[in-house]
Amino acid sequence: DVTEKWPYRHYMQKEIYEQPTAIGETLKELIHPAYRTISIRQNSAGLDLATIEDITIVACGTSWHAGLVAKYWIEQLAHVPVQVDIASEYRYRASPMRKNGLMIVISQSGETADTLAAMRYAKQGGLQVLGVVNVPESSIDREADATLHTYAGPEIGVASTKAFTTQLTALACFALAMAKAKGVLDAKQEQGYVDELLQLPAKVEQVLIHDASLEAIARELMHANGFLFLGRGTCFPIALEGALKLKEISYIHAEGYAAGEMKHGPIALIDEDLPVVVVAPQNSLFDKVVSNVEEVKARGGRVLMITTQGQAAGRIPADYTIPVVPCGEFVAPILYVIPLQMLAYHIAVLKGTDVDQPRNLAKSVTVE
Ligand code: G6P
Repeated sequence: DVTEKWPYRHYMQKEIYEQPTAIGETLKELIHPAYRTISIRQNSAGLDLATIEDITIVACGTSWHAGLVAKYWIEQLAHVPVQVDIASEYRYRASPMRKNGLMIVISQSGETADTLAAMRYAKQGGLQVLGVVNVPESSIDREADATLHTYAGPEIGVASTKAFTTQLTALACFALAMAKAKGVLDAKQEQGYVDELLQLPAKVEQVLIHDASLEAIARELMHANGFLFLGRGTCFPIALEGALKLKEISYIHAEGYAAGEMKHGPIALIDEDLPVVVVAPQNSLFDKVVSNVEEVKARGGRVLMITTQGQAAGRIPADYTIPVVPCGEFVAPILYVIPLQMLAYHIAVLKGTDVDQPRNLAKSVTVE
């Protein structure tokens, strides 16, 4: 046990650091090495993406957050409508199933009971099913019509890290494949997005260098009773994931919110005892997020800003800033979740919780 995670203290920490490799391995299967184009190899059943008119994504926990990001990508790039559902809700809701509909089932383990049941229910109703699965030969892998595999390798820590970023990587490639099949992505655009993806492993390394800063920030914030995480666009689900990571391993209550929704409730909670983590790459929504930060500061809140390094970072009235290496807007959620993983990890270590086996949680929930 000790040797397997060496030189790391916990599996979760090791898995955070394995992300450049895990993402690289996943990309290898989805991008043609010579042409640098998307090449999704499906299993023998195949799927005709051009005929798909409607997508439902179903998953639990962290995998559900990956689905929420994928909705933005697929709708923006391929112009196909996407619903994202929690598996335990979908399976009992009697949602109408569209002809030419596809269900995407996302699961690290491929064995989560609710996800598996939702998938079987959809198959019976006539939907085609694409799995996004990390464990080969798992139930979901075997039963799906086609599978995109993630190559995170075994994930031991209960709090998912590398499985999440590889799910996002595979789903980003799927969104591009879908856009190509629909004829709404030209070769030049594809090249641009593929280049962003191929740069990810090196950029993740550049995010990991902020580990010591995040540990120092964790020391400052670890005594808070609650946290608020804010983001917009594809970084809204990343805010949800940041809050989930913190809850899972540090047992501190945390909520993720769409930044624009803050004024409809959470702003009432803000004071110096509720740190606010803002996930805000510099993009078209950046100025809107800055005004949210100003609202928090005006109410005495403490702000940790995860943003693009450079000019923008200096403009923000945050208490702490993690400057992330510049990247394309498309891949930003994959990079911006990493500081949140490290923040949760350090707070949990400082609090002395069982980071890899947090109380009451299981790695794979195979009962309803
Ligand atoms: C459990 C794990 C989570 C995971 C969720 C879904 O709750 O603790 O980390 O996100 O199950 O698991 P799956 O294997 O289906 O992705």
